[in-house]
Amino acid sequence: MTHAPDLFKLEGKVALVTGGSRGLGYFTAQALAEAGADVAICGRDVRGNLEQAARELKTIGRDILPVHCDVSQEEDVLRLAQEVKNHFGRCDILVNCAGIGAMIPTVQMTSPDWINMMNINLLGMFQCCREIGKMMIERQSGSIINFSSENGQVGFSSGMTAYATTKIGVVGMSRSLAVEWGKYNIRVNALLPGNMEEGMMEALKDRNSPFFQLAGEPLLNLTPLHRFGNGDDIKGAIVFLASEASSYVSGAKIVLDGGFTINAGL
Ligand SMILES: NC(=O)c1ccc[n+]([C@@H]2O[C@H](COP(=O)([O-])OP(=O)(O)OC[C@H]3O[C@@H](n4cnc5c(N)ncnc54)[C@H](OP(=O)(O)O)[C@@H]3O)[C@@H](O)[C@H]2O)c1
Repeated sequence: MTHAPDLFKLEGKVALVTGGSRGLGYFTAQALAEAGADVAICGRDVRGNLEQAARELKTIGRDILPVHCDVSQEEDVLRLAQEVKNHFGRCDILVNCAGIGAMIPTVQMTSPDWINMMNINLLGMFQCCREIGKMMIERQSGSIINFSSENGQVGFSSGMTAYATTKIGVVGMSRSLAVEWGKYNIRVNALLPGNMEEGMMEALKDRNSPFFQLAGEPLLNLTPLHRFGNGDDIKGAIVFLASEASSYVSGAKIVLDGGFTINAGL
């Protein structure tokens, strides 16, 4: 029988976090490194902060590898997987966090906008699962965590149909892979954050921001815990799903939303 706190340790493990340069992906990379893993992070580096994020993460004392990669581009993902293999020799944990959001009313959404969303949020995730999955199959072991969202579980009126379509797709991809790869001892789970005051929803932190004025109060009122999610909430869920603490959890939807999506609002 294992001593319970040891189940959460990640010493000796290697992780890849797509979108690890900022937002929820950064907290994810931080959590994995703090629990003992060496971590590769990747992004397109749109804000030029990938190397800086890696430098900050290195202060935790683990080996951190930053890789420039657009997950929607197949050749980038092939190179990413090769760089992780060359540097670390393997990958035990894959967190697919890279993603984009957009609020565009359906009648104004162009087909190229739609395709771009599908390419990053779904094709990108699929390509990373496939290439890192090959390494995990070789080692007959792995944990994959795919970022979904409350979007797709409930509808919003603010032009989020494309985003919601990708995020419910993430749940289907995760469940299907969990069944296909269970025989290789690879676990695949979907993480569904709700309204986090970090990353693409960071404006929720500022009560004077136009976004908070528009949506903050109603979102809080629909959240039974009556607060927005934060970086520590992400860290707890990630360490649980990445580690042996969740060794019998696969194909699950882990909802991290303070009760938002199960609230009837009455
Ligand atoms: N924040 C929330 O409240 C919330 C709630 C539910 C779900 N989520 C999900 O959580 C994930 C992270 O969101 P976030 O809020 O942290 O967003 P964010 O702050 O905008 O960060 C997104 C990250 O993904 C990377 N990225 C975007 N497109 C990429 C691409 N094509 N290839 C590689 N990397 C790419 C970004 O780096 P570059 O731009 O440099 O590429 C960045 O590191 C997303 O999947 C999102 O849907 C967020």
